[in-house]
This record gives sequence, C-alpha cells and structure tokens, in this order.
Amino acid sequence: MTVATVLPGPADFDAWRDAARGLLAAGVPPAEAEWCVPGEAAGLFAEAAHPSAPGPDAGVPRVPRAFVEAAATAIRHADRDRFGLLYRMLWRLTHGEPSLMEVATDPDTARLHAMAKAVRRDAHKMHAFLRFRMVPTEDGVRHVAWFEPEHHIEEAEAGFFVRRFAGLQWSIVTPKRSVHWDGGALRLGPGGSRRDVPPDDAVEPLWRAYYAAIFNPARLKPGAMRAEMPRRYWRNMPETAEIPRLIAEAPKRVAEMVARGGTAPNPRPQRRLHLAPAPCVGEGMDLLDTPDDPAAALAALRQELLGRNDLPDFAARATQPVFGEGPPGAPLLFVGEQPGDEEDIQGRPFVGPAGRLFDRALAEAGVPREAAYVTNAVKHFKFVPTGRRRLHQSPDAGDIAWYRPFLLREVGIVGPKLVVALGATALRALTGKPMPVMKTRGQVVAGLEGHPVFATVHPSYLLRLPDQAGQQREYARFVEDLRAAQARVH
Ligand code: URA
Repeated sequence: MTVATVLPGPADFDAWRDAARGLLAAGVPPAEAEWCVPGEAAGLFAEAAHPSAPGPDAGVPRVPRAFVEAAATAIRHADRDRFGLLYRMLWRLTHGEPSLMEVATDPDTARLHAMAKAVRRDAHKMHAFLRFRMVPTEDGVRHVAWFEPEHHIEEAEAGFFVRRFAGLQWSIVTPKRSVHWDGGALRLGPGGSRRDVPPDDAVEPLWRAYYAAIFNPARLKPGAMRAEMPRRYWRNMPETAEIPRLIAEAPKRVAEMVARGGTAPNPRPQRRLHLAPAPCVGEGMDLLDTPDDPAAALAALRQELLGRNDLPDFAARATQPVFGEGPPGAPLLFVGEQPGDEEDIQGRPFVGPAGRLFDRALAEAGVPREAAYVTNAVKHFKFVPTGRRRLHQSPDAGDIAWYRPFLLREVGIVGPKLVVALGATALRALTGKPMPVMKTRGQVVAGLEGHPVFATVHPSYLLRLPDQAGQQREYARFVEDLRAAQARVH
C-alpha cells in the first residue's frame, strides 16, 4: 500500500522531517512512500494523497548531523524526487547503514551531495547576480529585482538580502514566489513575471561604466566567463549589455597594449613568492586579474573565492566572505581567525567586540590601523544558529587548510615585512602546523612561504579572561607584543 504525503511547501524541511519521522515510526518503507507539494506535478497516487502524514510526536531517529545539514539544503532542489531520496536515505541510515553518509560512492549519498551543492551554487548566483531597480512609490523608493533561480531558494536566501539591505524597502520577484521587505518585516507572495520589474533606472549606466572599466581584454576567456555567469542571468544585469562590445573590441585593445610595451616588473617583495594558484572554478573572474597591480590582484582573489563552488558547507550560511583590509605594501599584516557576527554582516574584518579591543591596543602601541593590513585565516563566519543568536564555532584543521591558499596568496600580494598571527588558528594557517601560542608568542617563526611570522594572542582571548586583573595584565602584554612587532619593521 502506498502512503502519500502532501507537504505544504516545496522546500519546507520541518514539514518533511515531521512527516518522515511519522512514516519511519509506522514502518513505511521508502518504496511505499509517495510525496508531493501543491503546484509541483503530482505523482501517480496524488489523488489518494493524505493531507498530512503521521505527526511530529512519532519519536526522533538518530541520524548523523551531516545528513541533516545536507538534507536541509538539498530539499530546496528542483528535482521532484528529492523528498523520496531523503526519505530513502533516512530509512537506510536507521536500518543498518548508519555510516551511509561516509560512503561517497553510494548513488544516494552522491546524489544528496550533488543536490546540496547545486542549491548552494544557485544561492551564490542569486547573491552575486541579482540586480535591484529603483521604483518610485507613494511610500518612497522601492528596490525591485527579477531573478530566476533554478531551485526553491527564495525563502532561504531572503535573510541574506534582509541583512544586506535592512534599511531599504525591496521586493524580489521570481517566477514561483516573491519576497518583500518593508524595512521591518518580511512577506512572501506569489510569483510574478519579468514585466513586474522595470528594465531600467538611473543606476544602470553606472553599472555599465563600472564593468567596462574593470574589463581586462588581455584576459578574455569567454568560455570560463559563460560558465561562471551563465547567459540566462545576463538579461537582468545591466552591465552585461556591454559584454558583446567589449569582447568584439578585445583583440584591438590587446594589440594596442602590446604596441605600447609591457609594464615594468614590480619590484615588490611578493615577486619572490611563487605560490601555487588555488584551483579556480570561477575562472571567468580572471578578467579582473592584473597581478602587476596589487589592488587589482586582491580584487581578483576575492572574485575567485566568490566564484568557487566547492566552499566548505558553513560558508553557504554566512552573509558574505570577509576579506582583508588595508593598503597593499603595508609593513605589518595581521591575521585573525575568522569573521565574527558583526564582521559577517558588515563585510569587514575586526569590526566587532574583538576588533574594537584590537583597535584600542593598536592605537596604544602606536600602530595606525589604516597603515596595516588586517585579514583572517578563514574568510567566512562559521557559526551554529541558536535561536536569535549565531554562536561562533572555531574553524577546524580542514577549514583552515581549505582557505590557506587564499591567505597565502593574499600575503604574497600585500608583501608585508612581518606577518602577525593573532592566535592559534592564524599561526596554524601560516605555518602549516599546530603550534602552542603561549610558548611561541613574541617570537618570529617561518611561515609556509618563507615570510616571517610573529606570534601573539588573539584579542578575543583577552575578552574571555574571567577576572579584571588578569584582563589588564594580559592586555598590557598584548600591547607590548604589538609594539615589538612594530619595532621589527621600522
Ligand atoms: N575575530 C577574528 O579573528 N577576526 C575578525 O575579523 C573578528 C573577530
């Protein structure tokens, strides 16, 4: 007998989980479970569908956290078989295959990962390629965007745009749903059409001029560009109207550049560093990569990270990657652990509580922050959502290793005289091995690419100390460390 479940929405993980628990408790095998949602083509047994499956009180099966995380993302995939796949995996995990998630070659496990990855990539495209148009209304200007996601990501990604554009009134219209923010509350509505969004506004010429200015004809890779920014997104992005002209003009501009002669080699110290480039999926972004100009090389590195589709899982939950800040060529380069809550929202390193303490200590040590380069070992905020708060989670060795090529290339481009590791994560990222901070602090050790690394504590260590006397003592030591680092570069 087939048991059919109608879910209330196409990506409602809680509803699926409750129903799946009920089916599991009732012993319904995957082959007998049928799933559908209103609006998606129904299965063979849709006529017989129950309004809901057995309820949420049916006991809580224990499954690996990795499954829950991947399933909560994969449920947004457009594949109509997604609910069945998730239930089949749940069944197998609880019927003698508890390690199923570790069997990467298993077709179900592989499919689950592929679906979660496709959803994350779709979300990345939405973050990067959605463009708002300004529409005057009686209540002021509303920013309206048309976007065509491949998967059911509108609701899940709304939070990203709320955090980014909290002070604006905006609407995102997609074929299946619309999301509206009035500056205080989020409202979901029905889908719409491209005609609901005006094609033009005053900002459009700016986007086009900006794109034309950053386009480097010598690095034109149309194939990679199309892979990174598929054509279907182009029509919503004003700057892409420039692409055919820029491509057509590229050979002539390159010939002119060659005729003008090459750029003189950059004498900066980063030239000694022959860093292996990280594997680059979003190679279209090489269009921006002009390594003789450190600012452009840093911008290209940032674009490269934005284009990666193999980011660690937690990166998809972060608002944005947070990159380093400061002048290329800064004599001191500080490396922290990872962005925290405030950094994640503002998109800047060390602007939260630890950052404020760090600023105070830098000022006291006579190190102007604006003359230093400040960055992190890990570029995304890793956290556990706990109700209203996002609880910081330390990056593990795998996370540090994943971001390391980006950090090392960043260091190579900035070319500091001394790199200062703030805490254990930074020290490990820079040296490639775990090292005790307290024993190493105040010393200079060799970084992986040969640059000198000065070790000290992380400012948040000072914030965590329980008593005031200890805090004052350790703060003074930290200021001394910063002074010592400064003395080494002057
Ligand atoms: N802690 C860090 O390590 N980096 C930041 O940017 C903020 C807090």
